[in-house]
Amino acid sequence: MKILVTGGAGYIGSHTVVELQNAGYDVVVIDNLSNASEKSLERVAKITGKEVPFYKVDIRDREGLSKVLEKEKVDACIHFAGLKAVGESVSKPWEYYDNNIAGTLILVDELRKHNAKNIIFSSSATVYGDPAFVPITEECPKGQCTNPYGWTKSMLEQILSDMQKADPEWNVILLRYFNPIGAHKSGTIGENPNGIPNNLMPYITQVAVGKRKELTIFGNDYDTHDGTGVRDYIHVVDLADGHVKALEMIKKKAGLKIYNLGTGVGYSVLDIVKNFEAATGVKVPYVIGPRRPGDIATCYASAEKAKNELNWVAKYGIKEMCADSWNWQKNNPNGYED
Ligand code: NAD
Ligand code: UD1
Repeated sequence: MKILVTGGAGYIGSHTVVELQNAGYDVVVIDNLSNASEKSLERVAKITGKEVPFYKVDIRDREGLSKVLEKEKVDACIHFAGLKAVGESVSKPWEYYDNNIAGTLILVDELRKHNAKNIIFSSSATVYGDPAFVPITEECPKGQCTNPYGWTKSMLEQILSDMQKADPEWNVILLRYFNPIGAHKSGTIGENPNGIPNNLMPYITQVAVGKRKELTIFGNDYDTHDGTGVRDYIHVVDLADGHVKALEMIKKKAGLKIYNLGTGVGYSVLDIVKNFEAATGVKVPYVIGPRRPGDIATCYASAEKAKNELNWVAKYGIKEMCADSWNWQKNNPNGYED
């Protein structure tokens, strides 16, 4: 089975290409490299011992996509390509709607023209907004998003669902990721944020490696066990494996399916700092700052549905997530630039 991986040079995409190749799938990557380096794919090839066919194509480039699909004759698509910086999406909403929504509309149109009506889509726990309950099951109502990035995920879920309903030949799997961290054991691929990281783990690793002075913890007055925000952190290799399991479901004619990919365990910001220090032996200086606008107190998954239907469970615990994030950062202080 041949899989088109859009955004395959990025953080989650590159880890997923490793797991797909290891599982015996043929993979073709397209990426416009707006937030990635082609070097990630060279490193993937070193890990798996298999070349990764790559095309520098934007998902909004209909002609470019069509040429790739004509030549490669893929069976399914795992769709990671998208812009994902929450703050930037507030200042550049048009760019986010164009890239993520218009891009996906063109992608799915080309997929159906080329008879590849199977798609696994990268959604996010952000679609639950401030969740009605925790642990969050897939039945939890979708909520109000606080930024255009979140709306692109929520709207694309709706668009893909409507499309599947109208044409049951489509198999659509929406995967709602919780908070991916960690890196491949080799320490050769990992998360490589542009500029100042928005997310917690890359910020911590950059403090640990000496690139930033200290972590600012965004608020310690939430209604949580220590006052800091609680999230469901998941190892990126576990997340990647979830896509391999989702492909099995595609083969069984999934129809429309929605799964949370999380561990079911919530850790606070202070828990993460302590676990990072324990796993790596490196101190993380921090200060307490004000709450970040749009943040919620607590968000963690029920991972039961993915366990029961996909036979998927997260294998890695918080110590490995911290150790592997650090292994990547310390070996690659400047990401793929070295
Ligand atoms: P990433 O930025 O590392 O990967 C996205 C990739 O898509 C990049 O390589 C980028 O160059 C590429 N891309 C962007 N726009 C494109 C376009 N128009 N055409 C072709 N390629 C394009 O991000 P990631 O963390 O690997 O996230 C992958 C997907 O998962 C994204 O859709 C993201 O929104 C979603 N997601 C990520 C998280 C997270 O915390 N990392 C959480 C939930 C959902
Ligand atoms: C962020 C995104 C969300 C996205 C998710 C997964 C925002 C507002 N939301 O959520 O849309 O789906 O990532 O990619 O960006 N924290 C600090 N100091 C920091 C960074 C973070 O204290 O420097 C805290 C946050 O307040 C939060 C926790 O760490 O409590 C995790 O933050 P982050 O990694 O940004 O993820 P989310 O807030 O869950």
